[in-house]
Amino acid sequence: MAMYHSKGKERIEWIPLRAHLEVENIIENLLNNLKENENVLYSMTELMGTDMYTYKHSVNVAILAILTAKSLGINTKQIKEIAMGALLHDIGKVRIDPEILNKSEELSEQEQETIRNHTEYGYDIVRNDLSLSYITKQIIYSHHELLDGSGYPRGLRGKEILKSSMIVTMCDMFDSMTLDKSSRSKTPIYKVLETLSSKVPDKIDSEVYDKFLENIAIYPIGTGVILEDGRKAIVVDIHRACPTRPIVKIINDENNDYYEIDLMKKLTVFIKDTIEL
Ligand SMILES: [Fe+2]
Repeated sequence: MAMYHSKGKERIEWIPLRAHLEVENIIENLLNNLKENENVLYSMTELMGTDMYTYKHSVNVAILAILTAKSLGINTKQIKEIAMGALLHDIGKVRIDPEILNKSEELSEQEQETIRNHTEYGYDIVRNDLSLSYITKQIIYSHHELLDGSGYPRGLRGKEILKSSMIVTMCDMFDSMTLDKSSRSKTPIYKVLETLSSKVPDKIDSEVYDKFLENIAIYPIGTGVILEDGRKAIVVDIHRACPTRPIVKIINDENNDYYEIDLMKKLTVFIKDTIEL
């Protein structure tokens, strides 16, 4: 049975426990390395002071990026470069007015334009930093580029975008979508994945998406769900290879019969939505 981290931090229940501890080590080491880099550390600390959301988000993105990179078979050295890029991807936001960054109302076209500058600001902060790798710098510069050229700041296309960068783009989108910044409410993971999968393969690399999916518990164990036919159930186990079709236990059958259904075996049964239990 899969295990899920639930140590009081509501936003990371999708991380398998064993992977989480290992990932935590990588991130801790990277943060320690950063302590020797005054330039970057200054910006990070500055950013944490004005925009805690971006800092927490960056750590989440780093966790997801490490797991995805591992599943893609990327070597350890490069995984660390990717993780560093993920941790620092939004560092350019330090040059953006915190009032715009923390605004909960919808942003004007001009404010959105201002925020878009963070990729170039970020690249500018790290470009001459010899302690950071080419990959890390490219991630900071290119983490809003999309395969069809609709991203920014350069409108790169297809192979012009590094796979390492695409990993962070994808994890960044996912984590940003899970938390609605304005309402501070959580969007169910399966809904986020619905939106995200609509961007595959035009905007997001399909291999990166598939490997990412392997690490996500769409319906974490204990989630309440309602099936298409109206039956209510609770998720009791997950198939890692097919996270959209978990094993569920029916809890409101008309005969008060509590039984399990493996959705991998019953392919005609579908989950309609998640519910509060
Ligand atoms: Fe960004």
